Amino acid sequence: MKMCQSAMAVLCWLVTLIMATALAIGDWPANQEGGKTQVSSSRVVNTRKGSLRGLYQAFDDKQLAAVELFLGVPYASPPLGSLRFMPPVTVSPWRGIRQADRYGPVCPQKFPDITNETEVLKRMPRGRLETLKKLAPMLTNQSEDCLYLNIFTPYSTYTPENSPLIVKLSKI
Ligand SMILES: *[C@@H]1O[C@H](CO)[C@@H](O)[C@H](O)[C@H]1NC(C)=O
Ligand SMILES: *[C@@H]1O[C@H](CO)[C@@H](O)[C@H](O)[C@H]1NC(C)=O
Repeated sequence: MKMCQSAMAVLCWLVTLIMATALAIGDWPANQEGGKTQVSSSRVVNTRKGSLRGLYQAFDDKQLAAVELFLGVPYASPPLGSLRFMPPVTVSPWRGIRQADRYGPVCPQKFPDITNETEVLKRMPRGRLETLKKLAPMLTNQSEDCLYLNIFTPYSTYTPENSPLIVKLSKI
């Protein structure tokens, strides 16, 4: 029940975040690679816990609509020390603008050894191996302090009323 209440609180908080205001792109240096360009967004989104600035991302392929990313957004207090193995505790508010521009650490996990492809392909289909290869660089920073959300939202259609939210929980 307590867990459930915490989950509801997280959800309410997320909805508040997604419904936040104002829109503009900063003239920050662009980071261009892999068919996409990222710049720091000059939009500041206000949440109940503090303000966030994310990343605006456009794609070379103009068929793909621009998105805004809010990376490494804390949704609970770090589950460290006395909070270890306890139900999630509300995150403390922060002052100023939090730069939501990089992924937070992922939770500690053991990644399958995929160094010898011949060996690996005896155990799994190629599709899974390719997925694991893509995921590997994102799993290098591991920590118990891992309760962070990465939020992706369409940029052009972003208005308080119609912002879609997809929650993706990954297990590898
Ligand atoms: C990879 O595994 C295969 C099959 O078990 C083995 O024959 C080969 O020597 C291994 N390659 C390396 C570089 O360890
Ligand atoms: C891991 O953390 C280091 C140091 O904070 C950072 O430079 C690097 O970009 C991070 N890597 C990923 C994949 O998040």
